[in-house]
Amino acid sequence: MKPHVLQLSPILIPSVNERLNDLYQVHRYYEQTDTEAFLAEHGAHIRGVVSGGHTGIRNELMARLPALQVVAINGVGTDAVDLAYARSRGIHVTATLGALTEDVADLAIGLLIATCRGICAGDRFVRAGQWPLHPQPSAIPLARRFSGMRVGIVGMGRVGRAVATRAAAFGCPLAYTDLRAMPDVPHDFVGDLRELARRSDALILCAAADQAQGIVNAEVLEALGPGGFLINIARGKLVNEGDLVAALQAGRIAGAGLDVFVDEPHVPPELFAMPNTTLQAHRASATWETRTAMGEMVLASLAQALAGHRPDNSLST
Ligand code: 8YV
Repeated sequence: MKPHVLQLSPILIPSVNERLNDLYQVHRYYEQTDTEAFLAEHGAHIRGVVSGGHTGIRNELMARLPALQVVAINGVGTDAVDLAYARSRGIHVTATLGALTEDVADLAIGLLIATCRGICAGDRFVRAGQWPLHPQPSAIPLARRFSGMRVGIVGMGRVGRAVATRAAAFGCPLAYTDLRAMPDVPHDFVGDLRELARRSDALILCAAADQAQGIVNAEVLEALGPGGFLINIARGKLVNEGDLVAALQAGRIAGAGLDVFVDEPHVPPELFAMPNTTLQAHRASATWETRTAMGEMVLASLAQALAGHRPDNSLST
């Protein structure tokens, strides 16, 4: 009999779904209308869970799955899984480490350029047929140059380093903050986030959010200043969203490029009308290349764990 696997968020790569279906009895939790009845019938048989980084799994659900051996996260963030609880039960929690680094870093730079150069606002202007109506060059405000901007990176893990490589190619002086200085990173370490913001024209959030809720608050945004841009491709909860909206409304920062939000898929509506924000629907890893590589890693983690081995990418065991 095939092992039972519970899927908490969809996978968009057909070949990965085919293999999941071939190898496992896959239950799609997000399609269940009566989750209580579902758990009563199948909970005891579930040996593997597949979820997304943002979705994770709640302890209450893990507690309903007594035979659970592995939670394979189709992402790198494990902030939505209680690793200590999983460890206490010997459950492997795996992530797709390294698979999405390049695409996430690409989007970070893309969001920064789009925001400081007003690419989306310009696109909307042209599409709306406004150009012939307002042909004078002053109809669109001048933009800000990206090349050479002082970039501050928050979180110098895989993604932070990939962002640094890209920003360096644009001639950007770089500084970073993290829990500690990293001897192999050639850029300035600034221990205090507020000080990093003060020294930066753009702050790019690349940090894990396990212990870092609301670190970008009113003080940090004030330090970033009226010429500064905030880019977030990590987790919405790193930012105090109320403070961010207020700072943008008051012109205390110049703009923001955001792929992630506190309460996805809900975005603070105040941001919609602001021409100096670029908004994405949590898409940084959403390419065929990356999602295929991530799906392969999810399959490998399930196979290793359900064969009784510690998966290569386990973060809990
Ligand atoms: C994905 C993510 O969008 O890696 C993460 O932690 O949040 C994203 O890459 C998500 O995990 C897709 O399932």
